[in-house]
Formats: sequence, structure tokens, C-alpha cells
Amino acid sequence: MRYLAWFVPLSLVALGVLAASDKPPARKKAPVDVLMRSKLASSQKVVEGLVAKDFGLIEKGAEELLKVCDAEDWRSSDEQVYTHFKTELRRQAEKLDSYSDAQNLEGTTFAYLNLISTCVDCHSHCRDVLRIAAEPPKLKPVPSSSDVINADEKRPMRR
Ligand code: HEC
Repeated sequence: MRYLAWFVPLSLVALGVLAASDKPPARKKAPVDVLMRSKLASSQKVVEGLVAKDFGLIEKGAEELLKVCDAEDWRSSDEQVYTHFKTELRRQAEKLDSYSDAQNLEGTTFAYLNLISTCVDCHSHCRDVLRIAAEPPKLKPVPSSSDVINADEKRPMRR
């Protein structure tokens, strides 16, 4: 009876181990995902550095952001506005880096504000413009003469 008292919990543990080993290994996160999330962690370092006037921490965050900007996994895109924001992020991170080197609190704060507005602008662009533009509108820079004639035909006429 005493053996049975041990047997039940032990077999439950064994079952648990078996079940755990049956589980598929935790899915590796895509590097892009990790890269994107690290932008947030690095910006938080910068805020912490700003409020504590800790230039070392600001510099650390800025350098991490520069690494993210240069990472191969963060693919560049042909889309011009997206590319502009990506370049702008790098430029602001560089400013943050050099202002923290110069121990300039106002400068780092200003660069940080611009940097964050670049984050928000690029995300808004990706969310609201690129998604909508999945089906590109059929716009022509200059309407052809046939378009003008067609437009005339559609205009309501007084009879
Ligand atoms: C050039 C455009 C661009 C800029 C600038 C940018 N991001 Fe992103 N960000 C993206 C894109 C695109 C994704 C989604 C990537 C994917 O999932 O493939 C993303 C994803 C993220 C995510 C992950 C969101 C999630 O759902 O897990 C975080 C967090 C993030 N960005 C933070 C930031 C921060 C903080 C900054 C500024 C320091 C910033 N981003 C600047 C384009 C940008």
C-alpha cells in the first residue's frame, strides 16, 4: 500500500515529463520581430538616461538603435516614404549619440523627441498608407486627351 502511495505521484510526474517532451520546441521568433522589439527597449534606455541625466545610458540606447538601423534583417524597401523614415531614424540616433558625447541634455532631449516622432510616423505610414495601398490606385499624373473627352461625356448636359 505504501508503494502504491509513491507510485501514483511518481507516475504522474513521469507522465508530465513525457507530455512536456512531446511538445514541439518553442517556435524560434523571427529575427525581424526581435529586432523591432529591441527598438522599444533601446528607446526606453534613452528615456531613462534623459531623466537621470545619465549620458552613458543615453549613448548606449543610441548605439543600440544605430545597430538596429544597420541590421541586415531590417530590410530596406523600395517605397520612398518608408526609406525616408528609416534614414531619418538613423540620423536622429546619430544626433542622440553625438549630443550625449557632448553631454548636452537639451540636445539629446530634442533628438529624442524627433526620434520618437519618426517611430510614430513610420508606423502610421505602414499601418494606414501601405496597407491601404495594397491595391494601387490607377492615377495618372497627366490625364490623356481621351480621359478628358470621356469626362465631358459624363458631365450632365442641359437639353
Ligand atoms: C522605417 C519605419 C519604421 C521606423 C522608423 C520604426 N519602425 Fe518600428 N516597425 C516598423 C515595421 C515595418 C514593423 C513591423 C515589422 C514586422 O513585423 O515585420 C515595426 C515593428 C515595431 C515593433 C513591434 C510591434 C509588435 O507588434 O511587436 C515595435 C515595438 C517597434 N516597431 C518600435 C519602434 C520604435 C520604438 C521605433 C523608434 C525608435 C520604431 N519602431 C521605428 C517600422 C518602423
